[in-house]
Amino acid sequence: MTYTPVRSAARQHTEYETGSNRLPARAWARSDTPRILLSGEWSFRYSTAPETPADFLDGAPEGWGRIDVPSHWQLRGHGRPIYTNQRYPFPIEPPHVPDDNPTGDYVRSIDVPAAWSHGRVVLRFEGVDSFARVWVNGHETGTTSGSRLQNEFDVTDAIRPGHTNIIAVRVLQWSANSYIEDQDMWWLSGIFRDVVLELRRPGSIGDHRVLADYDAGTGILQVTADVPARVRIPELGIDAPAGERILIPEVEPWTAESPRLYHGTLSSGTETIDLAVGFRRVEIAGGVLKVNGRRVLFRGVNRHEFDPDHGRALDEATMLADVRLMKQHNINAVRTSHYPPHPRFLDLCDEYGLYVIDECDFETHGFFLDDWDGGLAGNPTDDERWQEPLVDRMHRMVVRDRNHPSIVMWSLGNECGSGSNIAAMATEARRLDPTRPLLYERDWTAQHVDVYSRMYLTHAEVEAIGRGEEPPLTDPALDVRRRAQPFILAEYAHAMGNGPGGLAEYQELFERHPRCQGGFVWEWIDHGLRTTDAGGREFFAYGGDFGEELHDGNFVADGLLFPDRTPSPGLLELKKVFEPIRFERADIGVRVRNLRDHTGLDDLTVTWTLTEDGEERAHGVLGLPQIPAGGEALLQLPEPPPLTGEAWLTLRAILAQDTAWAGRGHEVATGQWQVREAAPRPRRRDGAPVRARFDERGRLLELAGTPLVPPRLDLWRAPIDNDLGWWGPAVEPQWRAHGLDRLHDRLEDLESDDTELRVTVRTAAAASDLAIRNIWTWTLDGTGLDLHLRIEPIGDWTCPLPRLGIRLGLPAAVERVSWYGRGPGETYPDSSSSQLIGRYQASIEDLQTPYVMPQENGNRSDVRHLTLYDAAGAVMTVRGAPTFDFTARRWTSEQLEAARHPIDLSPGEHVWLNLDLEQYGLGSASCGPGVLPQYVRPVRSASFRLRFEPHREAE
Ligand code: GAL
Repeated sequence: MTYTPVRSAARQHTEYETGSNRLPARAWARSDTPRILLSGEWSFRYSTAPETPADFLDGAPEGWGRIDVPSHWQLRGHGRPIYTNQRYPFPIEPPHVPDDNPTGDYVRSIDVPAAWSHGRVVLRFEGVDSFARVWVNGHETGTTSGSRLQNEFDVTDAIRPGHTNIIAVRVLQWSANSYIEDQDMWWLSGIFRDVVLELRRPGSIGDHRVLADYDAGTGILQVTADVPARVRIPELGIDAPAGERILIPEVEPWTAESPRLYHGTLSSGTETIDLAVGFRRVEIAGGVLKVNGRRVLFRGVNRHEFDPDHGRALDEATMLADVRLMKQHNINAVRTSHYPPHPRFLDLCDEYGLYVIDECDFETHGFFLDDWDGGLAGNPTDDERWQEPLVDRMHRMVVRDRNHPSIVMWSLGNECGSGSNIAAMATEARRLDPTRPLLYERDWTAQHVDVYSRMYLTHAEVEAIGRGEEPPLTDPALDVRRRAQPFILAEYAHAMGNGPGGLAEYQELFERHPRCQGGFVWEWIDHGLRTTDAGGREFFAYGGDFGEELHDGNFVADGLLFPDRTPSPGLLELKKVFEPIRFERADIGVRVRNLRDHTGLDDLTVTWTLTEDGEERAHGVLGLPQIPAGGEALLQLPEPPPLTGEAWLTLRAILAQDTAWAGRGHEVATGQWQVREAAPRPRRRDGAPVRARFDERGRLLELAGTPLVPPRLDLWRAPIDNDLGWWGPAVEPQWRAHGLDRLHDRLEDLESDDTELRVTVRTAAAASDLAIRNIWTWTLDGTGLDLHLRIEPIGDWTCPLPRLGIRLGLPAAVERVSWYGRGPGETYPDSSSSQLIGRYQASIEDLQTPYVMPQENGNRSDVRHLTLYDAAGAVMTVRGAPTFDFTARRWTSEQLEAARHPIDLSPGEHVWLNLDLEQYGLGSASCGPGVLPQYVRPVRSASFRLRFEPHREAE
């Protein structure tokens, strides 16, 4: 046997190292130094293992394909995306990775101007996942480390100015880096951020640092550079040598609410860097985190970089879309979960005003899988062989990003467990930047950090922390230290599928307890990848859709935005809960509260509208006095016109002028309350009763010519992810064990006289002796049919109900509805404040919310009346006494539940109408606490009245 190893271009990367030959870290900057952007088309070859020969160092051989840089190869038809939450998709034996290790070879040629011979040439990768070996003109240049960090190489000796040069890169999907980059997201590889070639002439600025402190009106500026340079900020009259400490009286401070930047330059003669200086001070005083001397409340979200077509390769328009959407939804803070974002995103946060927690690219969740008693040996967090690479990551993030005023805290990483390397990273961060507090959610004793933070705590736990009554730590010194720290929920309100519920109750705690300074909702966007099925129908794929060996299903779709960045109902609710101005009903008029931390309300106009039975009766503008941050004012409203019906007052705060992130008239906050109860409905009309047809079991088959699938008791909903309780208390198993999805009816009694039909039904699941007696009393009159439904539990029920109501089928010709109730969007008991009482209409299709994983959706609540239409006009009106909830869809709850993607749902023979007395709340149990007690629906005796009014005569 002969054994002939082929010359391989790259070995596996299995060393505990920080990349080789890299240049020292430096601040990311926009400068005028000559540069060539290498983004665009590259030649590309994909292999399933890194043994393919090094035949591409001088240019792409015949037969190679093309790929766009930046991108992920899995989203360009090579290999496949894998989604795992915590588990490593390869055997755990750090630092080794499997032999079959998908590999992407990239080559492109580039003409470098002859003038580039006067200086050093630097090749920069802004982001490569997970490891790259780089050659320039055949010379091995170095290797990368840190997928979401910049890697720079000095390629002066290899590059040939005035000639065509070949840049060749081999990227490995798995490397030692993968062990410390186990974030809950798609595993996606390749050169996914820009590649830049830069000329560094003698005198070019290497690193620079901007310190812009703010002290009670005075700005304190110190800009330093590693070469002699001048700082110029014309607006402040500054033209001074770098390094000087400059005091600027009466400077306008930077906050997320007033992102005042002073633009200037740092020039060395050969290079000029743009400066965007924001003066601000972050400090912890009296156990509270303050910006410019005032407590701030973080109304935050966790943001992964994600795009449904490009994964983590985001263009600037997408980053800007994120920032604008955040501002439009009253979000004031972002945690860059769980890695430093594209540097441009931070520029946008400076410019538009968002507080940022910048998080290190570090997670090792697969080592402990939240098994607190066990866990696997070898977690890099506590292994000294990983200390240097980890400290290096922290170092590089801080140095790259520390000039941004928007960054108010550093995070050491996410879910890495505890260990000595955390301490070392914290020390390095403090050494490089003593101006910002540190946070790391898994440091539960808070010994290495300045801010205590946790994730997914219940409201009660947050309340205890707010009161300073959290359970003590065993170490008394640490306990005292932690108790003196501000508290932040690094993650809460898991926005998976339909939800989260309970946001308002968290906000109330943040507003009540100074120590509780808000939190960051998990998470900003669903990571659904746009895909088409065999028939060309588009859907958003989640774990398992690519045939992965291990995956975590739709747990990757847990954002406030749908993958295409359409705001979900959860985001609308969050916007309402985060509103910076609040209207409260007062004895005379309205109390207006300014919930901002720094600024007044001068940018807002407040309008009011008075409606009666949903029709506008009066409107106006409410003049606002000066209300400083944290202040309030009591304002009187004009005398209302005479009213006879149900009346509501609605207040809206809208932008008075165009801003960078939304146009004039953009709605910022709302308030609404009822000012007059509904008048009693007139007596029912006598005359020939409308025609209703019942069968021998007392089931309603037809109303005035409209055939029905007879209404029956319905207790089931297509479980939402929170019902399933992926990582929280699951309620769905109880529901299922009680057979709420498979109920049988038995007619117990039927009585009738001239005007009334009383039907008593016993509804129960097979194998169960628990039952619900439902007593239907139907009464006909000249315009409609009244239903009085009484519910009586039989037996000892301990399980709550998903819903309590009835379901009926209408002809498929029904195509739209109008209603008077909450809308226009969906609402559930613990997520309804964003939707106001009014008159709305929608097609059946528009009533559906397309959650990436189909589940209960589209409920409209507090509905006074609902009218259903077909092409010929109104078919039937349903009235509540006083209100009901409804859903209307072209499929049943069972079909909704069975679907894996929205495209699995197709219209059937009926429109299915659910009319409910109540529904179970949403909660956040897909990862976190369940539904608060007030939104649990226990089985109980209840009574429910509805009236059905046909609009057509029976034939
Ligand atoms: C957290 C984790 C996040 C995400 C979330 C659940 O524990 O930090 O990355 O996995 O749970 O969606």
